[in-house]
Amino acid sequence: MIKILTVIGARPQFIKAAALSRAIRNKFSEKIKEVIVHTGQHYDDNMSRVFFDEMEIPKEDYNLRVGSSSHGKQTAAMISGIEELLLKEKPDCMVLYGDTNSTLAGAVAASKIHVPVVHIEAGLRSFNKSMPEEINRIVCDHCSTLLFSPTKKGYTNLLREGFPEFNQRPFTPDNPKIYHCGDIMYDNALYFSQLAEKKSDILTKYNLSTGAFVLATIHRDNNTDDPERFASIFSALNKISTENKLKIALPIHPRTSKALQNNLRKDVYDAMKANPNFVLMPPASFLEMIVLEKNCMLVCTDSGGVQKEAFFFKKPCIIFRPETEWVELVESGTAVLTDADEKKIIYAFSQFRNKKNMVFPPVFGNGRAAEFICEEIVKNFSPT
Ligand code: UD1
Repeated sequence: MIKILTVIGARPQFIKAAALSRAIRNKFSEKIKEVIVHTGQHYDDNMSRVFFDEMEIPKEDYNLRVGSSSHGKQTAAMISGIEELLLKEKPDCMVLYGDTNSTLAGAVAASKIHVPVVHIEAGLRSFNKSMPEEINRIVCDHCSTLLFSPTKKGYTNLLREGFPEFNQRPFTPDNPKIYHCGDIMYDNALYFSQLAEKKSDILTKYNLSTGAFVLATIHRDNNTDDPERFASIFSALNKISTENKLKIALPIHPRTSKALQNNLRKDVYDAMKANPNFVLMPPASFLEMIVLEKNCMLVCTDSGGVQKEAFFFKKPCIIFRPETEWVELVESGTAVLTDADEKKIIYAFSQFRNKKNMVFPPVFGNGRAAEFICEEIVKNFSPT
């Protein structure tokens, strides 16, 4: 039996972990034992617990309860807590997802005491090192032994950074193995798609009609914490809503909620408050989010996960960032980078509104990435 220690801590990781835990439960329960560590980076119930319940993620074995603080303090508390657990649990490898501070902490803690790191969602690059996530991705990839890239582009990025393509076992941090395996987020989108519509009544609850609303999410600190960018995004959304008589459904991340109170220019705040078509709601659960994504006319977001889910459900997407690590979306013409530029956002909306027959090429695999990853973990970490 292989023991893996999975570290998760932030909302997108709970979602990704659900796919691997499901594959272990269904097909690998006799070969892989998973120990789950929740760092406590996200701690509000609607940012954390709801995903465990809804997506049947096994309850975590440990919770480090680090909570919020500066990057340094938050990451340091995680490294120290994870190191202790690694020494106690002695896993065969550590599994990490994506690019959050929890990912970074896991990578540093494990690699320093020679526990092999498996990085899921490896190779993604925005080429913007002012994003904390970009630093986290690069450090984690370069500490890893097995690297699973969801896209061809991610795989190519790793080759460019010197990762070998045709190397042989045994794999180590100095002889790492890279794979292009598809996206476990796509596994989840397929798995939960039907169930979501049966289980969630979010459209009725907020009086939203299919095809008649825009879904928007904003949470990146460079948008929420910069009053000019924040105002520009909300002003654009307000104009799109009033000029087109469209509802804007807006599930609000805790950071955005604070910024709406403290950081939004008064004239924009007042205009938004006076617009009955702004539908503000608490953070959505995964099933609720899927229903919103499937039924909206268009998605506006600065989230990495949400821009991809828009693509999975064949919706055009306006991205409030200057660049994206999911370049395939932009290359396909179904998503556009507008940054926080009000004019560009409004123009992109008008273009998408009239665009017919968009093609969403199959670049995220076959919905079975999690099984592939489990097979490779078994091949590489089984006792000889
Ligand atoms: C993190 C990830 C980001 C991911 C996002 C998804 C990093 C560097 N970034 O950013 O890649 O896209 O999660 O949401 O790890 N807060 C609460 N309650 C919660 C969680 C957070 O109130 O349950 C507040 C905190 O006070 C904090 C803010 O939200 O001020 C941001 O939390 P943080 O842990 O920095 O992560 P995210 O911005 O969510």
